[in-house]
Amino acid sequence: MIICHCQRISHEDIDHAIDWMRASDEHVMITPGKIYRALGKSPECGGCMPLFLSHVQANPNAAVPAELANLRGKRRVRAG
Ligand code: FES
Repeated sequence: MIICHCQRISHEDIDHAIDWMRASDEHVMITPGKIYRALGKSPECGGCMPLFLSHVQANPNAAVPAELANLRGKRRVRAG
C-alpha cells in the first residue's frame, strides 16, 4: 500500500527502513524524517503524515528504546 503519494513510499519501504535503522543502531530514535532520509527522499505536502505516523507506531521495531523512554520525567542530577 502506498503511504506517501508524493514520494511513492509504500508501507513496505517504511518497514524496511525501520528494520535497517534498528539493525544499524539499537538506540536510534526512529522519526519520520529519518525514514525519509534513509529512503533518500523528503516529504513534500505532508498530507500523508497521519497515516505515515500510525504505520510507524504500529511497527514494534520503531518503539523508543527502553533506556530512552520516560526521560522527561527523570530528574537530572548535576555535579558541582
Ligand atoms: S503524500 Fe507524503 S509528502 Fe505528500
